[in-house]
Amino acid sequence: MTARIARFREVFGWGALWMAPVLTAGACAPLPGQEVPYVQTPHHVVDAMLRLAAVGKDDVVYDLGSGDGRVVIAAARDFGARGVGIEIDPRLVAESIRWAARARVAERVRFAQGDLFQTDLSPATVVTLYLTREVNARLRPKLLRELRPGARIVSHRFDMDDWPPERELRVEGEASEHVVYLWVAPGRRLAARSVQLDEATIRAEVEKIRQPGMMNVPRVDGEFLHDLVAGRGYRRGLEIGTSNGYSAVWMALGLRKTGGRLITLEIDAHRADLAAENFKRLGLEPYVELRRGDALKLVPTIEGPFDFVFIDAWKEDYPKYFELVFPKVRSGGAILAHNVLSHAPALRAFVEMLQTHPQLETHIDRRSSAGISVSIKK
Ligand SMILES: C[S@@+](CC[C@H](N)C(=O)[O-])C[C@H]1O[C@@H](n2cnc3c(N)ncnc32)[C@H](O)[C@@H]1O
Repeated sequence: MTARIARFREVFGWGALWMAPVLTAGACAPLPGQEVPYVQTPHHVVDAMLRLAAVGKDDVVYDLGSGDGRVVIAAARDFGARGVGIEIDPRLVAESIRWAARARVAERVRFAQGDLFQTDLSPATVVTLYLTREVNARLRPKLLRELRPGARIVSHRFDMDDWPPERELRVEGEASEHVVYLWVAPGRRLAARSVQLDEATIRAEVEKIRQPGMMNVPRVDGEFLHDLVAGRGYRRGLEIGTSNGYSAVWMALGLRKTGGRLITLEIDAHRADLAAENFKRLGLEPYVELRRGDALKLVPTIEGPFDFVFIDAWKEDYPKYFELVFPKVRSGGAILAHNVLSHAPALRAFVEMLQTHPQLETHIDRRSSAGISVSIKK
């Protein structure tokens, strides 16, 4: 951090920092080759950027215009990655080296004084940027040429002109919101590692799954499933009837909080393919396992106990599913069935059975017109 910037921050706070170079530009000539003034990314935004890129110990993070080295140091210190910082200002390079030593990550990071346009980017698996929109756009052909397929590019504040990002994240700031963008180098559409998205992004993205003919539950029911899983701390879940994965995403989001996992069953190959793609796209693969085939045959092969079972397949089969899953649900666990209101005639006898079952406490959740029966096992 330059003294000039540090002083500015003391006087005006972080929120005003983006203006600092503008205000000081006349006072200090840019270095030869310096494309962009030095402005820091706040530490919590650095953390959000590295999380958005799902940085891990096998990554090599290149920060282009590395300033005081904070991105590379955080990648090594907090995520176990290796990192390289490229910075044109030698004073900042020297400062970065000192910070890295203090953070005890000197062996995992390297800082080089140089021009980011002249740097070979091929070893990078993640590239981080806080440049300008115009510099990003000029850098884009180099990124596409040199980065390996699946490498992630994260930019603070500035997009890449007409290259749409895979993800866009908004992070609260002291004075204003910070926007962070993620791109994945093409060649393989998705990064090898599933990207850890923040909850707000998943809650927004989940609606893109909804499609005519996929029979997805209403959003309020998805939210209810999430709240039940997270609120009761459920960890082992089973879903019968994945379709293209809408309800499973809500449950997986809850399970991400409890450290659990959902097994979800789907008989239709096309819907199962779509679900698999959706789980991957939303980075939820660690929390949901898709099994393809007939649930009536699959359930007997799956070992319990389960904390909850969500039944949302063909309605006439509900009694058979119930018989199969009941012994596998633990005491205190829940058996949930969808459409008990919208398909009341077809499910009347089934619901009566649930309500009179001596080992169940059943109520009907009516927040959507579909209706979910919630039966807690005594
Ligand atoms: C109502 S949709 C599920 C919607 C999903 N829960 C959601 O909210 O996105 C019912 C699904 O159950 C599947 N299904 C029906 N019978 C099945 C069986 N015996 N085994 C596995 N899946 C089955 C259908 O192919 C269909 O995709």
